[in-house]
Amino acid sequence: VMTPVLLAGGSGTRLWPVSRKSFPKQFVPLVGDETLFQASARRLAGPRFGAPLVMTNADFRFIVSEQLAAIGITPSAILIEPSGRNTAPAILAAALSVAEKDPDGLLLVAPSDHVVPDAEAFGRAVELGTPAAKAGRIVTFGITPTRPETGYGYMEAETSGEGPVVLKRFVEKPDLATANEMISQGNFLWNAGIFLFSARTMIDAFRAHAPEFLEPVQQALGEARTDLGFLRIAPGPWDTLPDVSIDYAVLEKADNLSVVRFSGHWSDLGGWDAVWREAQEDAPAEGGNVTDGHSTAIDCENVLLRSQDEGVEVVGIGLKDVMVVSTNDAVLVAGMDRAQDVRKAVSALKAKG
Ligand code: GDD
Ligand code: MG
Repeated sequence: VMTPVLLAGGSGTRLWPVSRKSFPKQFVPLVGDETLFQASARRLAGPRFGAPLVMTNADFRFIVSEQLAAIGITPSAILIEPSGRNTAPAILAAALSVAEKDPDGLLLVAPSDHVVPDAEAFGRAVELGTPAAKAGRIVTFGITPTRPETGYGYMEAETSGEGPVVLKRFVEKPDLATANEMISQGNFLWNAGIFLFSARTMIDAFRAHAPEFLEPVQQALGEARTDLGFLRIAPGPWDTLPDVSIDYAVLEKADNLSVVRFSGHWSDLGGWDAVWREAQEDAPAEGGNVTDGHSTAIDCENVLLRSQDEGVEVVGIGLKDVMVVSTNDAVLVAGMDRAQDVRKAVSALKAKG
């Protein structure tokens, strides 16, 4: 069986003020009734998959277990990272823990902040990639780019076709000029942030490209202790690890990458502009405005008005390309083209104390 690994440890600062340090975006119903985390868990449930392994931190552990229970999914384990060290150590820990039982076991690592509505099409893409993963490839999933987004990884495919196709190059978060260049070349895809590989393959990749992670993660996992059904990774060696994503630590360097092209709808709800775009596609509204039960747009164009607090009505009049997000203790007002800068609000407020 294949073990789905749900990464649910990020803090989602670009979706402030709804996404908070103690309750980040993946646990909030942003599009539809389910949270992104629940939707991701459900996408990776069913006959193709085994019980999921969740990688998260102490603050989110009860949210994770409650949200899984609410949709009837029993995890194989919930691993608690003592501190956020990004996706590289989290993925290595998942691979090592699967390898304990079966070094050839397959892992499907997925973020929990994505929208992929067609679970069946996604399942077929996973099936397509499976033989390559069994043969020692790290299989990625590629999305046809639609804009020079700088928040994603870019992948250069050797040939066309659904795949799995060999990857020539992986470039994480390019600057705008590079992104434009790659898009105009035509053979680049966005990295969906979903990876399929065997435990052995990933451990070998770390050994080759990021060996400094191996010992501390192995040691931290070896000293892990069970606590109320959670597995707490030991802090000492873990806290010495650098904060690096799998994309920089391994993927940019690996020479055994393949890609399966995924043509279904995919979105990383990275910012409020993406939430707005997603809601627009879900239910196109007059003037491109996205509102909720407690907000109203009058003579507006392409606005997102959102009131998270039932006691507050938000009304926009004559606005264009603006987002307003109101909660019980904070209000964000920003230009739609400044969505990536919302993380600055979080840093600014942190600096104020
Ligand atoms: N368990 C755990 N621990 N999860 C984490 C941690 C951590 O320390 N840090 C981040 N995550 C989770 C996030 O919650 C998210 O679900 C996922 O890992 C990816 O992290 P992001 O921080 O959202 O990455 P990104 O969006 O900037 O970039 C990645 O995803 C893009 C597509 O969405 C990269 O893989 C890009 O190449 C890719 O294009
Ligand atoms: Mg992301």
